[in-house]
Amino acid sequence: MKTLVVDHPLVAHKLTALRDERTDSPTFRRLADELVTLLAYEATRDVRVVEATVSTPVAQAHGVRLARPAPLVVPILRAGLGMLDGMTRLLPTAEVGFLGMIRDEGTLTAQTYATRLPEDLSGRQCYVLDPMLATGGTLAAAVELLFRRGAEDVTAICLLAAPEGLAHMETVFADFTNPVRVVTAALDERLNEHGYIVPGLGDAGDRLYGVV
Ligand code: URA
Repeated sequence: MKTLVVDHPLVAHKLTALRDERTDSPTFRRLADELVTLLAYEATRDVRVVEATVSTPVAQAHGVRLARPAPLVVPILRAGLGMLDGMTRLLPTAEVGFLGMIRDEGTLTAQTYATRLPEDLSGRQCYVLDPMLATGGTLAAAVELLFRRGAEDVTAICLLAAPEGLAHMETVFADFTNPVRVVTAALDERLNEHGYIVPGLGDAGDRLYGVV
């Protein structure tokens, strides 16, 4: 598994404002959206392309276009939804699948309550959107499900990651031959006793959408 912590002053600036407890939900949503677009730029570095030739007003130009099948973007509900527009802005031709997963706050294990994905993901490059890589249980379960359906490679985009979550992902995917990548804006210190990332930004879903 490969991890990329995106080191860029704009990423750090937006993340600092996101973390601030005084940032209200509308501002939080806008910042998360902008941050994801910056992370997506790095996360799609290995997106598959094919050669293409176009005619400019002057001459022929050789370039590339995105290969088929189109990449699949999979936000994990609910908080991953806050990352979807930022991702599809950069990859407008991607298809979008949905995974509803919730963390049992007692056991900190992931439960799947909704799945809307193609049955066959053979040859697909998948991008999972999950803002907080905490214990890693939810993300690992999501990535495993995509590989069970035949995904070729999976890149997770997370606003923040905890060392415990990355270690869990490393363990689960140690023997996988298919590429697994995690792209994040920061690697924080640790998890607290409630499974929250420290210093983190609190509950990403609540900060995006309020406490419901
Ligand atoms: N989920 C969140 O929303 N925040 C955390 O800190 C950990 C998991």
